[in-house]
Amino acid sequence: MFKADFWFPTSVNALADGTDDLFIFILWVTLISMVIVMGAMIWFAYRYRAGQPINNDGPLPTHHLGLEVAWTLVPTAILGVIFVWGTRDYTKMSIPAPDAMEIRVTGQKWFWTFDYPEHNVRIQATPEASEQARIDGNPVGLVVPVNTPVKLVGSSVDVIHSIFIPAFRVKKDVLPQRYTVSTFEATEEGEYDLFCAEYCGTKHSGMITKVSVVSETVFAEFMAKEQTKSVGPADGALVFASSGCAGCHAITPATAGVGPSLHGLYGRSEPLTDGTTVLADENYLRESIMKPMAQIVEGYGPIMPSYSGRLNEDELNALVLYIRGLGRDDGGAL
Ligand code: CUA
Repeated sequence: MFKADFWFPTSVNALADGTDDLFIFILWVTLISMVIVMGAMIWFAYRYRAGQPINNDGPLPTHHLGLEVAWTLVPTAILGVIFVWGTRDYTKMSIPAPDAMEIRVTGQKWFWTFDYPEHNVRIQATPEASEQARIDGNPVGLVVPVNTPVKLVGSSVDVIHSIFIPAFRVKKDVLPQRYTVSTFEATEEGEYDLFCAEYCGTKHSGMITKVSVVSETVFAEFMAKEQTKSVGPADGALVFASSGCAGCHAITPATAGVGPSLHGLYGRSEPLTDGTTVLADENYLRESIMKPMAQIVEGYGPIMPSYSGRLNEDELNALVLYIRGLGRDDGGAL
């Protein structure tokens, strides 16, 4: 009961060890506080029960400085420890390493899709597909190599879902219209549960799959095999061309067109017409495509049409990835 493993499967995420210790720390703090508070309450109820002689001499006590300072400072100090500890671990599990392998997760009623842009591979983790993977002797669900930092970039095509991998201590909502990021580094090969942890309709309970942690070799073989399949993520360069983006946006540093050049845009701070600046991250790129009027770059007119309803989630993801890599040797890793 006083080990996190009593409540959870054993942690196999190198980035999550601190959360287990914090969980146990908070459990102890609340247990001890409960015993002190309840103990005092029971003692007072007994000591001052009806019919007991009470000494009423002297002035009634109004306050006790030492006591008040103690009951203010002690909880504040404990909360301070929890805050610092929690922030440190939350940061560790929210900010991926620069070299982390990127996987795009799309939630949809009622299955998960995992895209591997570096490998041009898509895994649709429907119950049927997972069953077929087992028959074929393939790893099931989200397949990741062991001892490798992984960055999950999630979004949803319909309602809110939530990626929950208990063995990794990872739980992150995926939302429509924006990206959320989480990260982990699996330390042991094996198969772990992946649940949807946000009620999303009739088959919410069926929106489950596995995380298969495999060796680097098996992972490379699996990716090579999956690449030969016809189903892959959309091609960002093709979406860029077919959506007419090039009519207004250059992809070279050269001259700006009707709209700003997209070369080297990702990760830059852009000045806006309202005098503020915005960091051109993925959510900014996404919003600029779907709701161009929300944030307009200084020196340009509000003339870009919205692509909302014209691009599906797949095309939008591909386009964001494509723009992210423009003018960057590293493909746009942060
Ligand atoms: Cu998706 Cu619950």
